[in-house]
Amino acid sequence: MRLAIFASGGGSNFQAILDATRRGTLCADVVLCVTNSDRAGVIERATKHSIPVLRISPNDYLDADDYSADLLSGLDASGVDFIALAGYMKIIPAEIVERFRGRIVNIHPALLPAFGGKGMYGMRVHEAVIASGEETSGASVHVVDEEYDTGPIVLQYSVPVLPDDTPGSLAARVLEVEHRLYPDALALFAEERIVLEGSVVRIKRPNL
Ligand code: GAR
Repeated sequence: MRLAIFASGGGSNFQAILDATRRGTLCADVVLCVTNSDRAGVIERATKHSIPVLRISPNDYLDADDYSADLLSGLDASGVDFIALAGYMKIIPAEIVERFRGRIVNIHPALLPAFGGKGMYGMRVHEAVIASGEETSGASVHVVDEEYDTGPIVLQYSVPVLPDDTPGSLAARVLEVEHRLYPDALALFAEERIVLEGSVVRIKRPNL
């Protein structure tokens, strides 16, 4: 699996995925880091590990088709065959979703389908979870489709929401499980154990 990781922020999930490939628990090569922001912490992480960085933002384009074409040619130039969105705050162009159908996944810091959708990202998610009075939250990895956070769910891990939690303390607890969840979910794809049947994800037993 030749993986591109898209990230807009600090990139701790980028790091967790990369570490899993280096440990050998995830059989994949991280061949490209894509970011929309010059200030993203993920750039430093990628550079440190000699992973090429493609900095590209739709904001710099007048024509959305030109943006999609440049993004696609950047992915092709690195021979990318799978995409993991890790704290990526831009919508993926429909052409790219179509081209990589079933081979783009995203991590979301809540138990989808709850607390997902447009505008639900980062700390806003944890604020909404606490405001709702839920006693459980967690993280989800799902296949990306044309909408926000609606694609088939691959794997979810849960965490408790504690009575004295702040959005920050809950975010930290969720992020810790994200760092296990994302490599685990990607490993299922790398081992060809994921079967997509419409909106249902079936996980095959491992080949022992
Ligand atoms: C993670 O918590 C991820 O789930 C969230 O952004 C954070 C990125 O952290 N993504 C979303 O909210 C997308 N809807 P990181 O840059 O340290 O990996």
